[in-house]
Amino acid sequence: MSTLPRSVVIKGTGSYTPANIKTNDDLAEFVDTSEEWIFTRTGIKERRFATEGENTSHMGTEASRRALANAGIQTSAVDLVIVATITPDMPFPSTACLIQTQLGVSNAVCMDIEAACSGFLYIMEVAASMIKTGRYQNALIVGTEKLSSILDWEDRTTCVLFGDGAGAAVLGPSDSPQTGLLDFKLGADGANGEVLFMPGGGSANPATGTSIDNRLHFLKMRGKEVFKLAVKVMEQAAKEILEQNGLNSDQLACVIPHQANLRIIELLSSRLEIPMDRFYLNLEKYGNTSAASIPIALDEAFRDGRINSGDLVLLVAFGAGLTWGATLVRCP
Ligand code: UT7
Repeated sequence: MSTLPRSVVIKGTGSYTPANIKTNDDLAEFVDTSEEWIFTRTGIKERRFATEGENTSHMGTEASRRALANAGIQTSAVDLVIVATITPDMPFPSTACLIQTQLGVSNAVCMDIEAACSGFLYIMEVAASMIKTGRYQNALIVGTEKLSSILDWEDRTTCVLFGDGAGAAVLGPSDSPQTGLLDFKLGADGANGEVLFMPGGGSANPATGTSIDNRLHFLKMRGKEVFKLAVKVMEQAAKEILEQNGLNSDQLACVIPHQANLRIIELLSSRLEIPMDRFYLNLEKYGNTSAASIPIALDEAFRDGRINSGDLVLLVAFGAGLTWGATLVRCP
């Protein structure tokens, strides 16, 4: 008889957002914008920015500590750490290795995976697949971002949208086939890479005086195009994953979407015919935290009692790459 796990479950979650809150009015003091524009176009009221010396790894470590405590797992039992981020502390070593040292999870295999705002759903499938081999028992998956480090304060079309923070989950094997991470639907379209990207800092455009003068080390986005693509790919991924599992949207207790723009989520709600009150929202408080967005929302949804034992939950995201993903979870 096979000893391989029959499913992979979420054993615990945790999140961390920095104490430094900036409201829309705070931004309007130094950016040509207004509280009214930001709120009506995006639904965002405030965001958190890391404090001086607080890096992506530090936020990820704190979220991880909370997830391990929530799961009741000792650091010595963690055997895999996967981090999703587009704002690593540095190109190498990986942020996962930095978190390993800060947390003291010395028995773990560590790596980063980059799929932008879809990153958490990507690392969820990678970690789940590794657990299903039977070789890993306690995987720590972390979405953590310090987007404030790549925001261009001279570009009002992007700088008002993003914030910093981290979320984490502990995954492990289970013998109950109908619980946990039921299915994944990931996708990518590299041909649309330039709608959302950061051209500088890699081997194509290493840091030089010219790259800095040309503002290449900041996030660039063609917002309208991203908006349309986001609605399209999230709708498609959500419909496909429901269909391939023989489910309909009425069976979903909660949808946790990538928290980028309330108008995107409202359109998704109408296209999927799922009422808005079944979507978990926290973008008002944090803005878009990229790879940290889904795990922060997942942790808060658990803590707020919005998702409970037996609930069927859909996680759905899109991001730079382009990348996208949908994950179906049955809460144990
Ligand atoms: O994780 C993936 C991340 N990306 C996204 O999810 C972004 C998706 N896109 C969006 O959320 C929206 O496209 C935005 C919120 C970025 C922009 O909303 P929009 O309704 O597409 O606005 P727009 O770009 O068409 O701009 C409308 C107007 C323009 O002025 P004119 O040309 O009509 O005079 C902009 O210059 O709003 C102006 N504008 C602003 N005004 C005040 C753009 N940014 C700002 C601003 N404050 N911050």
